[in-house]
Amino acid sequence: MRAVLSRAPGPPSSLTLETLPDPTPGPGEVSVAVEAAALNFFDTLIIADRYQFKPERPFSPGAEMAGRVEALGEGVDAFAVGDRVVAYLGWGTCRERVVVKSDELVKIPDGMPSEIAAGLIVTYGTTLYALRDRGGLKRGETLAVLGASGGTGQAAVEIGKAMGAHVIACASSADKVAFARSLGADDGIDYGSLSLKEQLKEITGGAGVDVVYDPVGGALAEEALRALGWLGRFLVIGFASGEIPKIPLNLALLKSCDIRGVFWGAAIKRDPEGHRANVRQLLDWVSEGRLKPHVDTVFPLEETPAALDRLAARAVKGKLIIKP
Ligand SMILES: NC(=O)c1ccc[n+]([C@@H]2O[C@H](COP(=O)([O-])OP(=O)(O)OC[C@H]3O[C@@H](n4cnc5c(N)ncnc54)[C@H](OP(=O)(O)O)[C@@H]3O)[C@@H](O)[C@H]2O)c1
Repeated sequence: MRAVLSRAPGPPSSLTLETLPDPTPGPGEVSVAVEAAALNFFDTLIIADRYQFKPERPFSPGAEMAGRVEALGEGVDAFAVGDRVVAYLGWGTCRERVVVKSDELVKIPDGMPSEIAAGLIVTYGTTLYALRDRGGLKRGETLAVLGASGGTGQAAVEIGKAMGAHVIACASSADKVAFARSLGADDGIDYGSLSLKEQLKEITGGAGVDVVYDPVGGALAEEALRALGWLGRFLVIGFASGEIPKIPLNLALLKSCDIRGVFWGAAIKRDPEGHRANVRQLLDWVSEGRLKPHVDTVFPLEETPAALDRLAARAVKGKLIIKP
């Protein structure tokens, strides 16, 4: 099988395309032919050894995938050859075949394209966990989403609307804001040209927002925190800007507000059944048309480095999919 491999830390151009033996599933495992692997921003970090997980090399990037079951290991009876499935593996999906523990797989509803299902787990899974389980977002509350045209941001706009919030999509250009608003956001702020704090205050009539969803970090984080209202919740999702902000804690005191960490990757290991239930919930919402995941571009396997370059260049709206 063909596989994209990281053999040494580096940028996307350091990845190689190689041929490896086909894997065979061991007891409790399933071999899956990858139909679509989805990329996330952290794939640009993991190949450069700049992420919290540092897989043993060589490894393939790509945290999540959708595919078709090809072979079953001993003792697997929950799946049959030919079943269509999704899984989150953390890394390793930019290749033609993967071997996965059967309890990490969830079946895809009939008729759902693999390109849609593949990109659902990380961004939408993180966001469901963030907004519902960590943020306690309630119907009618205001939700400010930073980086709203990116992978997690897009999911936050859609899930925020599905949960009944008033969603304010915030992004660095008018074009990105327009895209995020097309996903259903009620308001938009272009923080590339206007003050995020002032605009959030204005939209909320001076009261401040109830929940901030921040996958960007850097200087924007403090600005957004300053626009949080009384008893607000600031959700720490990530630092796509490359800068981990240092926050004056008096801001939390003055608003009686919470700064809440969101570590989805660790949470799903602590609660695997809750994770599978959340993935089934997301697949159902897509089937019902309540979520409409946007695929930006589909690349062939050999163009994985070019796809990762686009993610790093902030040039992506929605998901990038690799089709081996
Ligand atoms: N906490 C968790 O469990 C969890 C789960 C998944 C992902 N994450 C993290 O969340 C962050 C965002 O992930 P994502 O998939 O949403 O990424 P993405 O699709 O690349 O979107 C990130 C957004 O950040 C903004 N940004 C600002 N400075 C940037 C820069 N220098 N390079 C790239 N983007 C920049 C961009 O929006 P604007 O141009 O509009 O500012 C971009 O749309 C990453 O740090 C990722 O590791 C955390």
